[in-house]
Amino acid sequence: MNIALTGATGFLGLRLLRCLLERHGSLTLLTHSASGEALGRIRRFFEVTGAPERLTAELPTRLRVVPTDLSRPRMGLPPARYGELADVLDAIFHSAGSINLEGDLASLRRVNVEGTRAVLELAAAGSRRPVVHHVSTAFVAGARREGVVYEDELDDTHGFENAYERSKYEAETLVHAWSRTHRRPVVVLRPSILVTNLPPHPELPRHPLQVMDQLVGDALRAAGLADARGARADLPVARLPGRRYGHLNMMPVEDAARAMVRLADREPSGRVDTYHVVHEHDVPVAAVTELMERLAPLRTRLVEKRPDDVSALEASMDFYPGITPYLSHLRRYDDTRVRTALGVPRSVTRVDVDYLLSGLRPTHPAPPQTVPGEARH
Ligand SMILES: NC(=O)c1ccc[n+]([C@@H]2O[C@H](COP(=O)([O-])OP(=O)(O)OC[C@H]3O[C@@H](n4cnc5c(N)ncnc54)[C@H](OP(=O)(O)O)[C@@H]3O)[C@@H](O)[C@H]2O)c1
Repeated sequence: MNIALTGATGFLGLRLLRCLLERHGSLTLLTHSASGEALGRIRRFFEVTGAPERLTAELPTRLRVVPTDLSRPRMGLPPARYGELADVLDAIFHSAGSINLEGDLASLRRVNVEGTRAVLELAAAGSRRPVVHHVSTAFVAGARREGVVYEDELDDTHGFENAYERSKYEAETLVHAWSRTHRRPVVVLRPSILVTNLPPHPELPRHPLQVMDQLVGDALRAAGLADARGARADLPVARLPGRRYGHLNMMPVEDAARAMVRLADREPSGRVDTYHVVHEHDVPVAAVTELMERLAPLRTRLVEKRPDDVSALEASMDFYPGITPYLSHLRRYDDTRVRTALGVPRSVTRVDVDYLLSGLRPTHPAPPQTVPGEARH
């Protein structure tokens, strides 16, 4: 079975790669040519996460690296190379994408929509009719803040909180259209917010909560409050629009990757099979604001709507479309399909403030990462 993976150097892609190597002898990686040498970054991830030395040493022989650019025709490959690549594949895991929550729609579309189109075209060209496993996001549900989102729902009636969500929604609609036109199966994997307790490392990809951490620090600096000290009562207060009983789903990235690879064992229905790859329990919004307070010298207060007299600190924090809207989220994701396929629970990891803090501050060391599974090669 010849499997290709896009986005293998990314936060999720590295974990997918690790899990796929537990099951398959070799893999083809469609890496991002503009970002330079991928194998070295992958090797560093294996070293930093304490992978067995033998596994790390085997990487150059088990991984076939094909530098590509998903936003270019034929992924930027010469026609003969492209045809040869298409014809050897049995499955494509598409994890490449831009998760820039403040990016503009045009550049997000280039990677997320056109990149998905490029993967679908490669799958259409392949004589072995490879199955596409498309990594989407639970946030294609957009600006719908309440209720239950079902796995087969896909519509834009609620609008979107940011251009990232819209671009991922558009990519999913493309997948549906392609599946109908070509009468081909596609597996759509919708993880929620992916998190880790692995401390930040300069050689590893950043994750969304690191972006939040940076935003809060930047906002404090912009307001001249970065050095605020003293008793809690003396710290600056940020009033943030949000719901007191709001909650967000956060899925440990290692558990998400493992679930995705297990879902790939299932025989696809022939149409689009969509799975919510989410955690059993949501994280309260109150835990997210507590996390902010433990990361930076500030106090937070959730308020019903944006105050008219916003302070410089509040204005900087409110600017970011990737955080503030989510403090008002109360929706849940139905994951009946995943439960039926994999049983419960999908993740036994407890995601709380301490867990999240470990993934943001090196002073909270996490245990070595492990990926249980059978080596089948
Ligand atoms: N992170 C989350 O919380 C989250 C949640 C739900 C869904 N998702 C989805 O999961 C997928 C992976 O996200 P991630 O967190 O792993 O993102 P990431 O860390 O930013 O990784 C993105 C990957 O895409 C590659 N890439 C970017 N532009 C490319 C291009 N033009 N051609 C080829 N490759 C390109 C990057 O390669 P280089 O790094 O080498 O440039 C990198 O390997 C995305 O589809 C995202 O929408 C993520």
